[in-house]
Amino acid sequence: CPRASIVRTERHEVKDMLSTATLALDPAFQVGPVSPRFYSSFIEHLGRAVYDGLYCPGHPAADSRGFRQDVLDLVRRLDVPVVRYPGGNFVSGFNWEDSVGPDRPKRLDLAGKSIETNEVGIHEFASWTKKAGADLMMAVNLGTRGIEEACALLEYCNHPGGTALSDLRSRHGRKEPFDIKMWCLGNEMDGDWQIGHKTMEEYGRLAAETARAMKMIDPSIELVSCGSSYRGMPTFPEWDAVTLEHTYDHADYISLHQYYDNEADDPADYLAKADDMDEYIRTVVAVCDYVKAKKRGRKTINLSFDEWNVWFHSKEQDDKLNKERPWQQAPPLLEDIYTFEDAVLVGEMLITLLNHADRVKVACLAQLVNVIAPVMTEKNGGKAWKQTIFYPFFHASAYGRGTALRAEVCCEKHDTSEHEDVTDIVSAAVYKEESKELTLFVVNRNIEEDVELTADLRGMGNCRLLEHIVLECGDRKCTNGPGQERVRPCNVSRSSADQGILQSLLRRMSWNVIRLKLES
Ligand code: AHR
Repeated sequence: CPRASIVRTERHEVKDMLSTATLALDPAFQVGPVSPRFYSSFIEHLGRAVYDGLYCPGHPAADSRGFRQDVLDLVRRLDVPVVRYPGGNFVSGFNWEDSVGPDRPKRLDLAGKSIETNEVGIHEFASWTKKAGADLMMAVNLGTRGIEEACALLEYCNHPGGTALSDLRSRHGRKEPFDIKMWCLGNEMDGDWQIGHKTMEEYGRLAAETARAMKMIDPSIELVSCGSSYRGMPTFPEWDAVTLEHTYDHADYISLHQYYDNEADDPADYLAKADDMDEYIRTVVAVCDYVKAKKRGRKTINLSFDEWNVWFHSKEQDDKLNKERPWQQAPPLLEDIYTFEDAVLVGEMLITLLNHADRVKVACLAQLVNVIAPVMTEKNGGKAWKQTIFYPFFHASAYGRGTALRAEVCCEKHDTSEHEDVTDIVSAAVYKEESKELTLFVVNRNIEEDVELTADLRGMGNCRLLEHIVLECGDRKCTNGPGQERVRPCNVSRSSADQGILQSLLRRMSWNVIRLKLES
């Protein structure tokens, strides 16, 4: 990383290529509190996520139960509050009974075209999440199964005792209920790839009746109704409106899923895709409020963005593997190796989510280990390592808790092949009252020009610069690997704060975390 003096020289040299941006913050102008479930994630029984990822008996880093300590340590660093489980597409063929007790049958997993051994099930995964410092968010199978099985699973997990299923849990070694608060009513039920996928009416009715029965068993649970699988679905947003009309009385959230790709290898347009995510969220908020108004309801349905990430690098390889060698145990599926530019887009997606913190109350980076994941392990028991996307998530999780402020930005705009009026920078600001810390997350998504940012923070009082962290790289296709961390953050001296005015130089195509301390 350049030292301050070099930065000054660089600043001088690049002057002609600088564009400028301004931003203003005021503590009174808030988006809303960042929900404690904002930096959640997802583990699916898919590929090497569970087996050969979290769980690898015999590995030198495995504990007595076979769970890898080195993987757990990296997961802990991300400080994820909630982990969604066990799928994903997997859940639509899941028999929860296979995953508890002493007999664990091997089954065909139709979604992953793999063999599921059920060695790791609800009890083992619940212990792992506890060690990871997270809560479990469970999904019920509304693909091949229905109300009865969802109720049975909930009774098994949450009922204190004295019934057949809660006593079975005790006999399986767990007297106390798991007390799982969040439950997904199926997964991506609008998609024709989903086992048992449904029409809007079919899903709406089934989800509503399942939700009603589940809340009879445990009224304290929170339920997520399945929204569209992604914004590009032909039935979006009608699916969301019609199904929510059915589930409104019993559900608390609607789900959103979105993965972006750079198949076109068009970096400027790729980095503009966070604007699509913004539009997606706005539309789903509008749908929720429309249904509320139509129902003359009092309850506001919030958003559970329970799958989001970049996903495309591994698709061709996975299609080949599924075709040529299906039905393997823990095959290497969805093992995207992320580039630097992917990390920048992930940073932008975090910024977009933060700017909707008033309605996005749950967000799960999909996924966590080996499968489109920030944390990877080498095949057959090698090292654990951090992908490029680990870092923006790590920064946001570490410094992005508190109150999201409205960051009004004024900057140059550019057009890309598929997007118009793309702002050069995107930013989010989070203020943490307890520690009096203010953090600005800023991405310069102009791929050619640096940007000089002037932020007016006088409304926040006096502030002192703590640090300016960046993730930047000359090669947008640069990746990390086991023992090779080519893309990693560093601190730079490109910011100054004086009398409430912050000035920062933001390199072209970069992720920036600018941390300040407010002083009274
Ligand atoms: O996260 C990978 C898959 O993406 C999930 O199984 C599914 O829900 C989505 O389509």
